[in-house]
Amino acid sequence: MAKQLGLTPPLGWNSWNTFTWDINEQLVKDVADVFVSEGYKDAGYEYIVIDDCWSLKERDQDGNLVADPEKFPSGMKALADYVHDKGLKFGIYSCVGTHTCAGYPGSFEHEFQDAKLFAEWGVDFLKYDYCFKPRHISGELLYKRMSLALKNCGRDILFSACNWGEDNVYHWIRESGAHMYRSTHDIRDNWDSIKGLALSQLDKASFTGSFCHNDMDMLVVGMYGGSNNDFIGRIGGCTDTQYKTHFALWSIMGSPLMIGCDIRSANEFTKKTLLNRDLIAINQDTEGRGAYRIKPEPQWFHNDDVFMLVKVLSDGDLAIGFFNLSDGQREISLQFWDLGLPYASGFSLSLYDCWEHKELGVFRERFAPTVPAHDCLVVRAKLV
Ligand code: DGJ
Repeated sequence: MAKQLGLTPPLGWNSWNTFTWDINEQLVKDVADVFVSEGYKDAGYEYIVIDDCWSLKERDQDGNLVADPEKFPSGMKALADYVHDKGLKFGIYSCVGTHTCAGYPGSFEHEFQDAKLFAEWGVDFLKYDYCFKPRHISGELLYKRMSLALKNCGRDILFSACNWGEDNVYHWIRESGAHMYRSTHDIRDNWDSIKGLALSQLDKASFTGSFCHNDMDMLVVGMYGGSNNDFIGRIGGCTDTQYKTHFALWSIMGSPLMIGCDIRSANEFTKKTLLNRDLIAINQDTEGRGAYRIKPEPQWFHNDDVFMLVKVLSDGDLAIGFFNLSDGQREISLQFWDLGLPYASGFSLSLYDCWEHKELGVFRERFAPTVPAHDCLVVRAKLV
């Protein structure tokens, strides 16, 4: 078994946000092709995950799940082989309950059988949802059950738990064996949703980290309101700036980065955002530290929409995000003292802009960028 499974936040693509039930093997193959041809694989994206709605509504006579032959005529094994041949990994979906959220068979009381089947198919990643859970049994136990089944199915399968932050998930999920855990209800393709999800996780930084990552939900970057899913797309669409800030928040906060748009038709801005290697490097730092929050000076002036996030990196650098989620332009002032860097240390900070990919210069004691509404500046800071 690979000891490094889930060391850093998983990177990949998931079908749900854009395609919901409208999935098929050609779509998955196309995404795998685009991962290679457009540089997603080189940037670190690895998992291609089919969400809900992939199976038939009934198990077969042996109790096995059956891939819908109309959507997946070659079968899941052949599709996994295709994805593996590209040097990528293949993910699938099931649910703790009797049914999935969309009404397909769930894995309740079939956990070990399903894990074995997924292993035979060559599955590398299981997203495990939370609908139709029988009342008499706890979600915590059912996640532990599937975790055990996966760890003993004969294949390395990354376990993505998805109980939407319920049941005080932070306090038992790491011990359960899951590699990532959904801490939020479903994201929607609009600014209020992105902002709400991010703010809800700011005080949870100490729970996320290597081998068990806080999953703030799939990215909506690049969707621009395009989705089969009325729930996600209804009040749909963000500006480029909002998508940029969304990606930066998810990156520095250590969330898995699961692309949710149709990357076959991604525009240049979407590609620039999703393929930002400086932000991905911050997200993938191997120490896996959560990001702590600093309030800008003067503290009385700013509400919770304006803040800095600091992530300590393994090479001694700091990733510092200046986030302005408010509706007006703000100066966001950082005193280096608040990073643990007193003037008397003799150190200054050399700052590198992770969006423009350029050095900003060397600063002593203080740095105070002006950040437009809904925008951000993420820098990598080096002590010099
Ligand atoms: C609820 C989850 O939160 C979503 O991400 C998605 O997997 C749907 N269920 C599928 O039905």
